[in-house]
Amino acid sequence: MGNILRENILKLKKEKNAIILAHLYEPDEIQEIADYVGDSYYLSEIARDCEEDLIIFCGVKFMGESAKVLSPHKTVILPALDAGCPMADMANPSDLEKKIKEYPDAFKVCYINSSYEVKALCDVSVTSSSALKIMKNIPNKQILFLPDKNLGGYISEFFPEKEFIQWEGFCPTHHQICDKDILKAKEEHPNAKVLTHPECTKEVRDLSDYIGSTSGIIKFATDCENDEFIISTEEGILYELQKQNPSKKFYFPGRVICPNMKKITLENLYDALCGKVPEVVLDENIRQKALVSLENMHRLGEMILCEN
Ligand code: 13P
Ligand code: SF4
Repeated sequence: MGNILRENILKLKKEKNAIILAHLYEPDEIQEIADYVGDSYYLSEIARDCEEDLIIFCGVKFMGESAKVLSPHKTVILPALDAGCPMADMANPSDLEKKIKEYPDAFKVCYINSSYEVKALCDVSVTSSSALKIMKNIPNKQILFLPDKNLGGYISEFFPEKEFIQWEGFCPTHHQICDKDILKAKEEHPNAKVLTHPECTKEVRDLSDYIGSTSGIIKFATDCENDEFIISTEEGILYELQKQNPSKKFYFPGRVICPNMKKITLENLYDALCGKVPEVVLDENIRQKALVSLENMHRLGEMILCEN
């Protein structure tokens, strides 16, 4: 049954000139069938540059929205309409407008894990793989960072000369990982290196050998001579970690699952290709403002770093 479904997906994808993009937290079978798998930054670039007219985005709502912001003439479909991101929902435009009034001089930086309405009110979007680089290219002293207080806190450690106003948002999935779990895993695997996503708390980050995005974690594990790693992020990343490093061992502190990323199935992916799932539709006025924030992310993320 699974094989027939897979064949039908591939056949329909060709007929419809579609591309399938998947985030590294997606279920194994989704990552396996996707044309491109990666972190938020990489997928946003592929969505912007691909030639196909139909993008099936296997990820969560803010990812589908960002693809549509960047490629308004392409059809973008998120196979599970209810796959949201609770962290993105922690920042809404009306609260942000109030904050902006409070700090009129602040440069407004939003994590890509935010709605397009929030992006439309911000100067630049960042991802976990691009945030440090982008921040180096922002001359302003005062930074309003939202919605993730953990990524914001992590970045602020590199820029003591700047004043950060942090939003109180967080990722409920990454907050399940606590320092005790890491200490226990380190005790069980004393030779393992700890690789952590910046959405984890400071206590967890402080116990880590490497902090970076999903693709950064995979690259570090692949390039590193060590053969054992404790991975502090969502467990979907194991598929690509293991694929690239079949002989290395990866340990996860507990079962860390983002329920929204797991809402995409081969069945709803097929339905999306059949046109049974509505496409992402955005308000054009707001989209154009959100586009500025995402274009600034790509521009500043690709710029040669300014010297400090
Ligand atoms: P990455 O950009 O590191 O893939 O992170 C996306 C995300 O949602 C992490 O929770
Ligand atoms: Fe959002 Fe966290 Fe899921 Fe990433 S892992 S999509 S931040 S809830």
